Amino acid sequence: MKHELIKLPYSYDALVPFMSRETLEYHHDKHHQTYVNKLNELVVGTKYEKMHLEDVILHSDGAIFNNAAQIYNHDLFFKGLKKQFSQPSSKLNNLIIDTFGSIDALKKEFISKATTHFGSGWVWLVIDENKALKIVSTSNALTPLTEGLKPLMVVDVWEHAYYIDYRNVRAEYLENWWKLIDWDFVSSRLSIINELGDPNSIKDCNDNSDLCNYVESLIEEERVTS
Ligand SMILES: [Fe+2]
Repeated sequence: MKHELIKLPYSYDALVPFMSRETLEYHHDKHHQTYVNKLNELVVGTKYEKMHLEDVILHSDGAIFNNAAQIYNHDLFFKGLKKQFSQPSSKLNNLIIDTFGSIDALKKEFISKATTHFGSGWVWLVIDENKALKIVSTSNALTPLTEGLKPLMVVDVWEHAYYIDYRNVRAEYLENWWKLIDWDFVSSRLSIINELGDPNSIKDCNDNSDLCNYVESLIEEERVTS
């Protein structure tokens, strides 16, 4: 299957002053687009050519894995930024309080992990095999999908994500990224995991339930032909 660049679910100016138009233009239109183009080139004539993105990630290594994982990681990062003010759902809020004590405590631990992550990578809020919330970090293109974890949200700590706006001050980028979290999106990921078992099973969601139809309409809206 041909992989496609997601369309940003907000305008290029929507995240100003915390993330500039220039950063989005470089990060989405150039970096993210390059991963998509590269993966489409690399899979031609291979067993990965007809696989869904998540299956490529789970069965590949080397350059194909790196580009596939970077598409998945960036899709989640960009979709998780807000269009408007939002708050965690009551279910997510309760889970956060049970696990971390408060939203502020989650923020402190999350940002500390992201600030101190060495080199390029990602910091994630995931649901683990015991349905518990967990903060994990991954280096370079690595993704918690391969560990059986189910991601709710992620922040990109590659320098290309923040250098235009914040130069080398990653901590300031992270403080401002926190203000951009689309909690509606993060909460919907939790609902999908609870109802479908796994957000990655969405691709096989074809039972015409309201949830499947809703999710499929979102996927259709967000994808554009590159
Ligand atoms: Fe990035």
